Amino acid sequence: MKTIIEPFRIKSVEPIRMTTREERERLLRAAGYNLFKLHSDDVLIDLLTDSGTSAMSAAQWGAVMTGDESYAGAPSFYRFEAAVRDLMDFKHIIPAHQGRAAEHLLFSLIANPGHVIPSNTHFDTTRGNIEAAGAEALDLPIAEGKVPSLEHPFKGNMDLEALARLMDERGDAVPCVMMTITNNAGGGQPVSLANIRGAAEIAHQHGKPFFIDGCRFAENAWFIKLREDGQQERSIKDIVRDTFAVADGMTMSAKKDAFANIGGWLALNDDALAEQARTRLIQTEGFPTYGGLAGRDLDAIAQGLTEIVDEDYLRYRVRTNAYIAERLDALGVPVMKPAGGHAVFVDAREWLPHIPPLEYPGHALACALYEEGGIRGCEIGTVMFGRKPDGSEEPARMDLVRLAMPRRVYTQSHADYIVEVFEELAKRKDEIRGLKIVKEPPMMRHFTAEFKRLLANRRSGEASRNRP
Ligand code: F0G
Repeated sequence: MKTIIEPFRIKSVEPIRMTTREERERLLRAAGYNLFKLHSDDVLIDLLTDSGTSAMSAAQWGAVMTGDESYAGAPSFYRFEAAVRDLMDFKHIIPAHQGRAAEHLLFSLIANPGHVIPSNTHFDTTRGNIEAAGAEALDLPIAEGKVPSLEHPFKGNMDLEALARLMDERGDAVPCVMMTITNNAGGGQPVSLANIRGAAEIAHQHGKPFFIDGCRFAENAWFIKLREDGQQERSIKDIVRDTFAVADGMTMSAKKDAFANIGGWLALNDDALAEQARTRLIQTEGFPTYGGLAGRDLDAIAQGLTEIVDEDYLRYRVRTNAYIAERLDALGVPVMKPAGGHAVFVDAREWLPHIPPLEYPGHALACALYEEGGIRGCEIGTVMFGRKPDGSEEPARMDLVRLAMPRRVYTQSHADYIVEVFEELAKRKDEIRGLKIVKEPPMMRHFTAEFKRLLANRRSGEASRNRP
């Protein structure tokens, strides 16, 4: 059959509250044009993140009822540990309340001032935890990964030559090598098994551990099965096992590829490091058999892990984004190519050239999507990255809007609706106006900044005619 259907039926539904354009314009104005400040029941299609927003299965809700809430040694923990180990055979599996807590545990133990930690591209919280420990977070993506319009099967790969050079020149300052699958900050792009093995080999040649940020491991394995030579006949489980077989540990957010609404873990092979991590865990998260989670969360994760490696699910999952990206491309909307595993990235700077980067084309598009159709996406551009520590402001490398797809939540008609909203916007995209920031905190400004819409767009080189 040509149509890839959602491989599930719906037993329990959440109504979407319909709103009018006028209502949305008013709500967005009242929220200071910051989409994070909207109440989510004022959003029709929420594509802010794929994290913690999955629909759990009937089996997961069933597992929730079997959760054991004992403080120590709950069977829920042992079911969780066995389910993780079935896919990633690490010696120590340490639960944490979400991915960044696992990152904090790891980097508070191994990263120090003067250290440098390379990755294909660190996710923001990973970078934040490394920098909080005084170390440098270094991104080494391949050159193809930096060009949104360029097609490449494994655009999330690490530049292994650059990694080898770094290890030769500054290897003593590298406590570990990291790999993020899929590469979220780089557009949800996959990393090949060959590249994972290559990076692990370079780390090990220099006697350094290799860690994987495995948030979207199943999506990554699906891309490997589709695109990497010799992998087509293999099961997702086998590919996942191979992926982690070369690693010395991993950090994980179960809010992504475990279908859970909360949770994560740190896995390690090193006994001494694991002991230190568990001691720290008791201080910050909880006893090592629950790590900041309820027993029922551990059971939801254990069941979710058995479902995430299902090929019918992964085929549908990855196809949803590819479908939206293809239709946007046909409309002339510039999208990151090929489509990523969990999101579609729109190149707003390219699509709205009349809005200069310092008037935030990505944010302007995100606001227009909400007003036009009640869609909430997320700017990944100058609002997020433009403010420098010295207080100056510069355009980010790109101005993108990420439309991240929650797992098993939206259907084909929601996807068609998203495309229709772009169709409407395309008719009068030249009228979309930039914004200025009227209030911002000293860091992480995108979460709380307040904006005003400019009255007219400034052409490059022309003095601003705008009043707030
Ligand atoms: N690593 C990656 C690659 C991520 O995408 C995220 C979260 C984390 C680590 C942190 O995990 O949220 O459980 O603490 N990404 C979400 C997103 C927030 O929207 O991309 P967490």
